[in-house]
Amino acid sequence: MNPILQAQQNHKSIRQYQDKAIEASLLIELIKSAQGAASSSFIQAYSLVQVTTPENRAKIAALAGGQKWVESAAEFLVICADLTRVEQCSLEQGLGKLEGNTEHFIAATTDATFMAQNLMLGAESVGLGAVFIGGIRNDPAQVAELLNLPDQVYPIFGLCLGYPDAKPDLKPRLPVDVILHKDRYDASRCVEDVKAYDAQMQAYYQSRGDNQKSSNWSEQTANAVQKKKREHMLNFLQNRGFLNR
Ligand SMILES: Cc1cc2nc3c(=O)[nH]c(=O)nc-3n(C[C@H](O)[C@H](O)[C@H](O)COP(=O)(O)O)c2cc1C
Repeated sequence: MNPILQAQQNHKSIRQYQDKAIEASLLIELIKSAQGAASSSFIQAYSLVQVTTPENRAKIAALAGGQKWVESAAEFLVICADLTRVEQCSLEQGLGKLEGNTEHFIAATTDATFMAQNLMLGAESVGLGAVFIGGIRNDPAQVAELLNLPDQVYPIFGLCLGYPDAKPDLKPRLPVDVILHKDRYDASRCVEDVKAYDAQMQAYYQSRGDNQKSSNWSEQTANAVQKKKREHMLNFLQNRGFLNR
């Protein structure tokens, strides 16, 4: 397998880091490489905020539900969907303000996410570990205030980066034939396919090196969507100028 495919298939989120800084020039190179991601209509609708002060790291770790790795990672970046520059272009061309179209929200969110995934993979390719932090959306208004985010910008997730101090087990993904449909979506397969994967995940949860438990993918997934509804998100996004039509 070539090294990129190998890196993709070996991804593991890392939540424990060595006390070792990331060279500033390496971080810039990783971000530059991440920017190679495709971009919808080439609008490049994202920004990153590098959070360097221990106070803000601690506040974000706490609001994300006590995620200590937000404080201990060598770097913590907040990945934002950002339409401010796009709106500026529109205003300068005499075409008016953005109106909060859902399509623009999708473009900005996917642009930012592809860039972030590129950043994670690039970081892993040079021996760093990483984990995304969706927990920042527990209180996105506080994050926006702490980071001075203007309207037309919203924090999607954080990204911890650092040299790994843990070797977690690889989490098996859904088999390809569960997620790949030919010509027509075949919903009838869903139940059987997931049952087989549940058995595989049950074995993984029971035998992994850390945090062993008796559970399976269906149970984890169902619970995850109950716990993480974040009902404030629609209002928050609309107040920032997204999803208004
Ligand atoms: C958008 C997004 C948000 C996430 N948020 C968190 C988070 O807040 N805290 C955390 O520890 N892991 C978080 N994760 C990591 C997932 O839990 C992890 O990717 C998943 O369990 C699969 O494990 P793996 O990445 O080790 O393969 C997030 C992942 C994504 C894609």
